[in-house]
Amino acid sequence: MKKEARDLAREFKTFLANNEEEDFIMKAGAAKTPASSTMPEKENPAETAAPSFSDGEKAEILAETASAIARCQRCPLGTTRIKAVPGEGNPNARLMFIGEGPGFDEDHQGRPFVGRAGQLLDKMIEAMGLQRGEVFIANMVKCHPMIDATDTEKRGNDRPPSLEEIALCRKFIESQIAVIRPQYIVALGGVAAKSLIKDTSLSALRGKVHELELDSADLDGSVKIIATYHPAALLRNPNWKKDAWEDLKMLMREMNLKIPGK
Ligand code: URA
Repeated sequence: MKKEARDLAREFKTFLANNEEEDFIMKAGAAKTPASSTMPEKENPAETAAPSFSDGEKAEILAETASAIARCQRCPLGTTRIKAVPGEGNPNARLMFIGEGPGFDEDHQGRPFVGRAGQLLDKMIEAMGLQRGEVFIANMVKCHPMIDATDTEKRGNDRPPSLEEIALCRKFIESQIAVIRPQYIVALGGVAAKSLIKDTSLSALRGKVHELELDSADLDGSVKIIATYHPAALLRNPNWKKDAWEDLKMLMREMNLKIPGK
């Protein structure tokens, strides 16, 4: 591991061990940001502000982030969860899907999108000609928001995360994005779309490719993001699937992926 990465990993460990309130994500972003990086100038100026974490560094930082999530008690969801759901997938994913928060099945398994909505998401990924294992799947909040927090065994007890819960959890998704540096993100549903793109309606955000901007990392326009319907919304309103497929085809054209039947 390079010296810089070793230092960064050590900082993560110190933060995690001391449970310091300091925002370690800022370091993850800043360490790879040209303005504040101690790395030498890029030799090829045409190169984008591409991720320069090695596979090992990415794995280590993602594992440290997952372990910080598992211990997090910054909001009450941390005390009522069964399992934290950090997210999963390919650390080198070109494409990342981000939902709102874990539901019943995810809370019980500690994995994102494994219930009925997850099965539909798998189909959407496969319709794009990709496999679930090729992408990275995560949520805005990492613990199950419940209507009745005293009954973890009740189905249909899910609610969207509050703005405060999203704000308190935000550093984790920002860290994952900064480390993975996908080229593309799909925000699944209004919660993720509003939190990551702009606080407006989902319909105002769909149909366009946006540039992602994060407070904690200078992505320099390298991460594009689109918004589409949440798979749970598609289960409730199957007539929206056609529009969701249009959103995914727009993304596939951007990504130069082959559109079936074309
Ligand atoms: N809905 C979400 O937003 N995320 C999940 O992981 C599951 C359902």
